[in-house]
Order: sequence, then structure tokens, then C-alpha cells
Amino acid sequence: MERRKITVRSIASMKGKEKIAMITAYDYPTAKLVDAAGVDGILVGDSLGMVVLGLENTLGVTLADMLIHVAAVARAKPKALVVADMPFMTYETGTRDALRNAAKLIRAGAEAVKPEGGQEIFDVVEKLVKYGIPVMGHIGLNPQRVLSLGGFRMMGRTEEQAKKVVEDAKALEEAGAFAVVIEFVPASVAKAATESVKIPTICIGAGPYCDGQILVLHDVIGLSERPPSFAKRYADVAAVIKNAVANYIEEVKKGVFPSAEHYRD
Ligand code: KIV
Repeated sequence: MERRKITVRSIASMKGKEKIAMITAYDYPTAKLVDAAGVDGILVGDSLGMVVLGLENTLGVTLADMLIHVAAVARAKPKALVVADMPFMTYETGTRDALRNAAKLIRAGAEAVKPEGGQEIFDVVEKLVKYGIPVMGHIGLNPQRVLSLGGFRMMGRTEEQAKKVVEDAKALEEAGAFAVVIEFVPASVAKAATESVKIPTICIGAGPYCDGQILVLHDVIGLSERPPSFAKRYADVAAVIKNAVANYIEEVKKGVFPSAEHYRD
């Protein structure tokens, strides 16, 4: 039986019934593959800056970069929900900019957008939702704050920070977000946030008590140079690629490739 298209409503209705499995993808072939594997949601994350473009962090990712990758993923016509990250400084500068930039991501093929932040972006989230753009929140560690944080640090360790994670989740729900990503906080904090809202929480590095999980594809398949400690590697695709290319080089050098089936006289 063909899988039904997953929408923001389907994701929202999974809370308490079925765990949500999301993963990132940044291009057409990997979007096809993760969708065929049955993932519920694909995030075209600004992590593409680090795992695809070779940047130190996500701050250098532009809206133009995102539009190319969102369009490539959308061309795969996944059954999974396609969510696009709003890059650094494309929504913090006011609701007009946020609306204009989110609309570009939607026109490129995204079905929802994900800005980073909690209570401080309440107005932005509310406005996007009001005008028909579904929003997935992102709280806990916000990688776009890496400079002020002084690194990719676990959040929610102090009582004050833990309270902020829960209050941020509640604020995003009130603003109309259909789900919220919680990144790199203690499991107990993610649990408290999950229990305090009716929208699904989708965690990364935040333990098992959330409504779903999300990981970066390149960490999962062994293509990341520096995967975070909380990621799990399920395959060693780097070794497969190196081996295939080494075999190709050897056959070229020896004159074994191309052989008769690969050319015509
Ligand atoms: O950019 C990204 O891949 C993300 C995930 C880590 C949630 O935001």
C-alpha cells in the first residue's frame, strides 16, 4: 500500500500515539532514500553548512543556499513532511522579513519552516502561523547562537535554564507552532517540556522522553568528520565511497575500465 502524504496535522496528531522519526536531507538522491526508508519528516537543516559546505558552524548559510537545497529535496516529492530551516538573521530582523523569507522557502517546496528560539521569537512565529506558514520551533541549544554561547554547549543544566526550556516550549505552542525541536538538554528537562505542551517535541541529544527524534543524516551514515557525542552512526558510507573510488582509480590505471560493455566502437 502506498504511504499517505505526511502533513503538519499528521505530525501533530502523532503525539502520544506513535514516535516521530525525522532526519535531515539536503539533496534529491538522499531525500528519495530517506523517504523510501519511511521517515516521517525531512528537515533541510542549516546543518548543511557544516556537513555539506564545510563551514565551521551554521552562521554562514544563506537563504540562497537554503533555497537551492530545499528545491532539490522537494523535487524528490517525498511523502515525508519537508521542513526548512530559516537561516541566521533571516527572521530576527522583524516579522516582515520573516514572512518574506519564509515565503521564499515555501515557494521552493518547504511545507513548514523552523526558526531557532523560544519566547523571544513569539511575534515572528505567531505572524508566520497567522498567514498560513506552519512553524516547527527549535529550543534548548540553538546552534545559531554558537558565538554568544562560546561553543555548542548543553543547555538547561541550571534551574533557570531548565525553566526557560519549558517556558520556551509553552510560548511556541501558544504562538501556534505545530511541533518543537529540543536540542542538547538533559533528558529530565526535555521530559518536563514534553509533558507541559500538547504539541509534539522532537529531540536531538535530549533523551528518550520526547515525542520523536531527529538526527543529521551525515552523522547517521558515517559521513560527518566530527559527529556530536549524542548522534548514533548506523552505517559507514565513507568507507563504501572510498572503497568504490579506490577500485575505480585502480581499474583506470590498469586499463581495466572501461571494458567492452561500457563503450561502443
Ligand atoms: O540544522 C539542523 O540539522 C537542525 C537539527 C540539528 C535539528 O536544526
